[in-house]
Amino acid sequence: MQKIGVIPGDGIGPEVIKEARRVLDAVAEKRNLSFEYEEFPIGANHYLDTGEVLADETIQRLSRKDSILLGAMGDPRVKPGILEKGALLRLRFHFDQYINLRPVKLYEGVPCPLAGEGRRIDMMFVRENTEDFYVGLGSRVKKGLSMSSLSLIRKTYEAKFDVGVDLTDEDELAFQIGVITKHGAKRVMDYAFQLAKKNGIDLVTAVDKANVLTEMYGIWREAAEEASTKYGVAKEFQYVDAVALHMVRNPERFKLLVTPNLFGDILTDLGAALQGGLGLAPSGNINPAGISMFEPVHGSAPDIAGRGMANPVGAVLSASLMMETLGHEEAAADIERAVKDTLKSGRFRTPDMGGKTSTHAMGDAIVEKLKRK
Ligand code: NAD
Ligand code: IPM
Ligand code: MN
Repeated sequence: MQKIGVIPGDGIGPEVIKEARRVLDAVAEKRNLSFEYEEFPIGANHYLDTGEVLADETIQRLSRKDSILLGAMGDPRVKPGILEKGALLRLRFHFDQYINLRPVKLYEGVPCPLAGEGRRIDMMFVRENTEDFYVGLGSRVKKGLSMSSLSLIRKTYEAKFDVGVDLTDEDELAFQIGVITKHGAKRVMDYAFQLAKKNGIDLVTAVDKANVLTEMYGIWREAAEEASTKYGVAKEFQYVDAVALHMVRNPERFKLLVTPNLFGDILTDLGAALQGGLGLAPSGNINPAGISMFEPVHGSAPDIAGRGMANPVGAVLSASLMMETLGHEEAAADIERAVKDTLKSGRFRTPDMGGKTSTHAMGDAIVEKLKRK
């Protein structure tokens, strides 16, 4: 019996998680697996009702789970960052989920205006997930001398920054500090190059902006060099701006990309567009030795929430990634195959794919395919 914490979250989160849960129930029955679920009401409603974003006690309860499945965080009624940083990022950091794994695959039968029909798009993003410009260190200061005492506390290290800013004019200044540690870069590179080796991928693309952010991505590049030598897998360095261009012009050239946190966030939305839309893109926040958390790449989509229009495929494929990580490779493959077959038929398309299929009907179609094979 494996224990799964479920955080449906905000907007379309609960709608897509419901379908992912149904697919998990179907695959559990088929493969004779058993999971115990517990739902956690983290998100905008809970915050607006109680003033609490994420209680320490909730984190303690989640620490006893084998895995976590999450819908989305964020709501227009709540100031940007409160839920995203206070719940989602806090969980990623607390559980030291230092890898954000985001496969970009264009399945047959998926309409994709960006890439066109029949393209062979299949790349994996390994996004760094606990450092970079996401560390949350920053401040706003006004004229005069201001001291900011900022601290970064991670499982593996603590760093304190005492930043004094002397602003000479009547103006306001904001700064945010990006951080990359050698250890943080190394473990991501180890993961990426090992994954490449395991999957017979002969070239890893290391993405950065080392021509401008020379310090942070200097460390990043050294770590990539070392991992390339260590695992005997070739690497290329590419600047993030050029990667954006090549992803649109020639996406087939990429097999595995390893990216810093912020660039990975942006490029994987572009990746989602290449795979037919945000509604189809899955992800996993992975701690290889701890508790991982799976969620679609998309957010709470307030523009379509509550209307049964959301595409549940990204959430369902995230559940497939979860199965793989929990050691149920056949169940993972079953789910992916059921999604593939559903999409291939061309009969089931949610509105984002230009069709009329509802969230629930899409879930039904996937469950049916799963049961049949
Ligand atoms: P979004 O991903 O929620 O939506 C972007 C666009 O994609 C919208 O037009 C939306 O309708 C569409 N879309 C997204 N998912 C879809 C699906 N499953 N099916 C069909 N269409 C889908 O991004 P946003 O609008 O920038 O952000 C909305 C909120 O979500 C914000 O509060 C943001 O901070 C948050 N957010 C959370 C996560 C997360 O929880 N991991 C990710 C991204 C954004
Ligand atoms: C994502 C989201 C998050 C991120 C936000 C909501 C913190 O955009 O999962 O892609 O930037 O990682
Ligand atoms: Mn994002």
